Amino acid sequence: MAAQKFDLVLFGATGFTGVQTLKHLVQHVPSGFKWAIAGRNEAKLNALLPLCADAASIPAIKIADSADVKSVEKLVASTRVLIQLAGPYGTHGESFVAACAKHGTHYLDLSGEIGWVADMIERHHETAVASGAKIIPVCGFEALPFDIAALMIADTLKAQTGELAASIEVINRFTGPPAFRPRDVLSGGTTASIKAMLDVGEARAFSDPAVLVSDAARAAMIRERHPYDFRARYSDEAGAWLAPTVPAPFVNPPVIYRTMSLFASSRSSPFARDCGYVEAMSTKSFAPFALAQRVIAEMLSRSFIAMGASISRDGKLDRMGRSAAKTVLDWIGPNTGQGPSEKHLAESGYTLRMRATSASGKTVSARAKASGHPGYRSTAMLVAEAGLTLAGAAADGCRVLPRRSGVLTPASAFGTSATAAWQRAGLVFTMGE
Ligand SMILES: NC(=O)c1ccc[n+]([C@@H]2O[C@H](COP(=O)([O-])OP(=O)(O)OC[C@H]3O[C@@H](n4cnc5c(N)ncnc54)[C@H](OP(=O)(O)O)[C@@H]3O)[C@@H](O)[C@H]2O)c1
Repeated sequence: MAAQKFDLVLFGATGFTGVQTLKHLVQHVPSGFKWAIAGRNEAKLNALLPLCADAASIPAIKIADSADVKSVEKLVASTRVLIQLAGPYGTHGESFVAACAKHGTHYLDLSGEIGWVADMIERHHETAVASGAKIIPVCGFEALPFDIAALMIADTLKAQTGELAASIEVINRFTGPPAFRPRDVLSGGTTASIKAMLDVGEARAFSDPAVLVSDAARAAMIRERHPYDFRARYSDEAGAWLAPTVPAPFVNPPVIYRTMSLFASSRSSPFARDCGYVEAMSTKSFAPFALAQRVIAEMLSRSFIAMGASISRDGKLDRMGRSAAKTVLDWIGPNTGQGPSEKHLAESGYTLRMRATSASGKTVSARAKASGHPGYRSTAMLVAEAGLTLAGAAADGCRVLPRRSGVLTPASAFGTSATAAWQRAGLVFTMGE
């Protein structure tokens, strides 16, 4: 008789984000839940067991190495849901995506390596559709809250006015203690992933908002009508200068345009075919005065515009710019396993203001408030709750997920019905504000 499958496996549990995710799972797995923590180093995994002492169900330990395809296949075949937190994903990710697509195992990751996600769609979407696997990359601060926010506000507009969203705007503002050290903002794993993206340096990952849209005509329309615009601007509504979102303004938009394209075939889609998505970051949390905010917004804006301009004719970022950026990251970036202090993890947060507007000018607004460091506490709680929801073990028993499979996005996979899960992860949406 075949062994009973795990409900969920947390791979990369020994990493900085892995440990944070484990802590949330320990508090929320139900009794009888069959789960495992996994990685390549048994001693490091064993050392995590004391953290699990209070869990309603104690996890097993499983060993796999991303470079050993057989070990990955065996691990993936043993579970219904896999959370994969070992990055950079360009190095460690594909063996897991391929195995999950093949075995029908649902998959979540925290990749922000958009070129790699585009490759995964090209190579594994059809296999995952056939097997029923939900492959959901980019499931942390990037891009889950923004993607769900865009769907929820568009849905609210449709419910209140009967009209489809023609444009969606989301403005992010960070809250909590100021961050003076790079490691209060970035972990070692994120630094490694940014360096890996710079190594590849493909233009499509930095300059193409439609890079994840498979329908060529729709992608061409997005490129023509909604190209990236990283200029700084003042917003009366936010009462602040707005800058491109950090750490990268080119991660969320491609995900949200893919969500719109995945909804296109559904009669319930709340998005107009040519719906545009714009996001920005309020600089109010970095400086209280308009002049200082403007300086920060202009600096960020010019850096990202310069990055776009340094794409050379072979479609790669300029070699010199890339190596300069990597040298800076080597100099300031934390090492693997390092990240923000507990104070920053616990006291940081963010808010999102979102607005959807129809072609006739009807508008609805809403807010979301999240507690916990965006990159490493909020992210960890969100991906943990996403895993529990896919495993059917979320405390509210959310079982009405959209019936899609393939390489998906957070919003196309979870729809609007998992709000209680996001709430347990500290992310609360309030519609109509
Ligand atoms: N999208 C978002 O909002 C977001 C937020 C946070 C993090 N991230 C991403 O999440 C990823 C992880 O970040 P992190 O800071 O947690 O990284 P980290 O602390 O460096 O941890 C990396 C993990 O990968 C494992 N690993 C490395 N090579 C492996 C191999 N060959 N086989 C198996 N496991 C291997 C490590 O295992 P050992 O302990 O054995 O070395 C460790 O568990 C990064 O790609 C980062 O960019 C994204």
